[in-house]
Amino acid sequence: MVKFTVIGGDASEDLAKRIAHKLKTISIKTENYVFPDGESKITIKKIPKNNIILVVQSTYPPVDTNLLRLLSIISKARKYSSKIYAVIPYMGYARQDKEFLEGEIVTVSVIGKMLKAVGTKKVITVDIHSHMALKELKISSKNVSAVSELANHFKKIKLKKPIVVSPDSGGKQRAKEFAKILNVEFIALKKHRDRKTGKVNILNTKADVKHRDVILVDDVISTGGSIIKSTQFLKKQKCKRVFVACTHALFVNNAETGIKKAGVTQIISTNTIPKNTSKVDVSGIIAKAVL
Ligand code: R5P
Repeated sequence: MVKFTVIGGDASEDLAKRIAHKLKTISIKTENYVFPDGESKITIKKIPKNNIILVVQSTYPPVDTNLLRLLSIISKARKYSSKIYAVIPYMGYARQDKEFLEGEIVTVSVIGKMLKAVGTKKVITVDIHSHMALKELKISSKNVSAVSELANHFKKIKLKKPIVVSPDSGGKQRAKEFAKILNVEFIALKKHRDRKTGKVNILNTKADVKHRDVILVDDVISTGGSIIKSTQFLKKQKCKRVFVACTHALFVNNAETGIKKAGVTQIISTNTIPKNTSKVDVSGIIAKAVL
């Protein structure tokens, strides 16, 4: 039987515990001491056994701090085992998966190099922004989808003639899968993002949403711009209620407040990033992915 030890970084302590529970093993905690200049001193609280070691740490803000802590824990764990899996439920930098403007650095590929250098055997992520990002890591990897977990959650909510909507064409496949589970229709809006300012606009799209409840499905909510603009557009088309389902709720710059202000009834996210909207647990799909 394969034996695992889980080490939970501070960004994913609760999720690490849940994964360990599913794998019938223990979760080792880490402790951080932050020096006055901002450097972290990280201590693994128990010596791990020579099993497959899962280091669980999402890299949400503070992104670089959480990333460096992840790399440091892996580097230390490597001293006890040669089989280190980096479980990065939310993978920051995955949206920087290509050189959009000349001179830009594809940072996700740099992360791949660093993960490899510290001794990572395999990376496990949840709903990584794109397959291009996964490819750029250039390391053995597995991306698991939380779409069915999220969609099943919506089976418990009474909705009126629901329709699943993706804010952009990039999320069309996700919306399609989500809609299939609920056996409802789906559409994808057309979104334009200014690559310099980051500002988002929804282009005029045919949307048959009148008097219908809408479930907006996205992988990440960062500033909330995509969800806010989509909600405003759908409300103009006289939809009924707007629900939001997303895997990773970053909620940068008070995004949650802005989204609620735009008229969203409820936001449901997963615990890849711990938030008060994290109603869907991904520990089961992660545990299954490593078995
Ligand atoms: C973009 O392609 C992603 O799928 C998300 O729609 C986007 O990253 C969300 O960012 P924000 O909340 O800042 O609009």
